[in-house]
Amino acid sequence: MPRKKRTRYVCNHCGWESSQWLGVCGSCSRWNTLDEVPVPEADGQKVHKSRLRPDGREALKPMSLDEIPVSEADRITTGMGELDRVLGGGMMPGSFVLLGGDPGIGKSTLALQWVSLLAGEKALYVSGEESLAQIRQRAQRLGVHPAHLHLYTETEIMQIVETARKEKPGLLIIDSIQTVYHSALQSMPGTTAQIRECAALLMQLAKQENITVIAIGHVTKEGDLAGPRILEHMVDTVLQFEGDKQSHHRILRTLKNRFGPAQEVGIFEMDNGGLREVANPSEIFLSEFDPSVSGNAVVCSLEGTRPLLIEIQALVTPTSYGMPQRTASGFDHRRLSLLLAVLEKRCGWQFGQHDVFLNVAGGLKLSETACDLGVASALVSSLSGNAAGEPLVMIGEVGLGAEIRRVVQLERRLDEAEAMGFRHAIVPSGYRGDGRKLKVSAVARVKDALRISGLDGQGPVANN
Ligand SMILES: Nc1ncnc2c1ncn2[C@@H]1O[C@H](COP(=O)(O)OP(=O)(O)O)[C@@H](O)[C@H]1O
Ligand SMILES: [Mg+2]
Ligand SMILES: [Zn+2]
Repeated sequence: MPRKKRTRYVCNHCGWESSQWLGVCGSCSRWNTLDEVPVPEADGQKVHKSRLRPDGREALKPMSLDEIPVSEADRITTGMGELDRVLGGGMMPGSFVLLGGDPGIGKSTLALQWVSLLAGEKALYVSGEESLAQIRQRAQRLGVHPAHLHLYTETEIMQIVETARKEKPGLLIIDSIQTVYHSALQSMPGTTAQIRECAALLMQLAKQENITVIAIGHVTKEGDLAGPRILEHMVDTVLQFEGDKQSHHRILRTLKNRFGPAQEVGIFEMDNGGLREVANPSEIFLSEFDPSVSGNAVVCSLEGTRPLLIEIQALVTPTSYGMPQRTASGFDHRRLSLLLAVLEKRCGWQFGQHDVFLNVAGGLKLSETACDLGVASALVSSLSGNAAGEPLVMIGEVGLGAEIRRVVQLERRLDEAEAMGFRHAIVPSGYRGDGRKLKVSAVARVKDALRISGLDGQGPVANN
């Protein structure tokens, strides 16, 4: 009896699976996201099974901790400090790294430099995006000539896996995951089904052969990695470029890492010779900071394990017609609305008839609430037209009552501020440290911070 052709339905947003078609995804509740995916005929079972056990060993048995080979010592440092940092202190052999970012931001460049930094590791660079000549041209421009690099323009995943098993490179680059496909699947390269299957096979390869796999991935307009969410869950490490291509600086952020801290950032400079690490990142985020101009404030954000000083710019202008605008770049929109509401209700500063633009210098995305006080100060500074006049760093979370709440690792933030030559910091009350070179004002309320910094001028009439 001929076997019935098997299909399943996979959500192209979150990767949820169903045996029948449904209008709404059972996991993420999005409508019309289920795609029909044929199960590969010949080895469908095998493919599926192998995904459940990516290291592919036949009989797995429980082990005690002592029996497990320790791997921390195996970490390979690339010698490029900022790259090692985002990897959690170097590259873990056998890990699967997803490298994402906008087109033209420097993914292929970084991958090629990465290869050339690891001269001891044989590398296989699989390119489905560029011709061999283009890659050679780039290598010439970057001034790298890695003899240990082998280029390959195959895009069929089984061929790639087979070649990698034969060649046994230490490093396998897939440029990009959207261009590879499994011939047993009928869907186009780049679709949910293809990306899932290819990634599962690459994961298996990485773990079985101890090959570090670096898969390059595109991002969508919204800034998410293209392809199913499940891809991010499958890999060990997700590195993503953020910020814009216009600037010379490139920010590489660790969105996920099974081998190190997440949210770590690496800062690079891009020029003809490729990516170069930036020795003192706070310097570039402050390069245009001028304390005599209103609307500016400096915050200290903990990015991963490193405190960075970053300039916040606000522009508050009377609305000329219609609804007031609120625009934030590098800062959460809802958090901005919340801070504006707090300033209005608790501190008496009225933004209702004003457009508000907020920008984080350098293209960094801030997510730490410790930046609240600096953002609030920049907003008031622009509205009032008063500037602090001295290099001042603002550290603190703002609560709904306009109280300033404590933040983690205050000492390390102050160390960084001192190292960058700041002479005054405003921090949450309760700070007891002394013996610092910089003056520390510990305050309980946003109003006090604005008064001490002189940003409020005469001060508005409070109405809380
Ligand atoms: N011939 C060149 N001369 C100088 N810079 C170049 C040249 N070609 C590309 N670049 C730079 O490298 C960037 C492309 O980097 P690339 O690694 O190809 O990006 P991605 O792989 O993320 O799409 C371009 O945005 C450009 O700034
Ligand atoms: Mg590329
Ligand atoms: Zn879904």
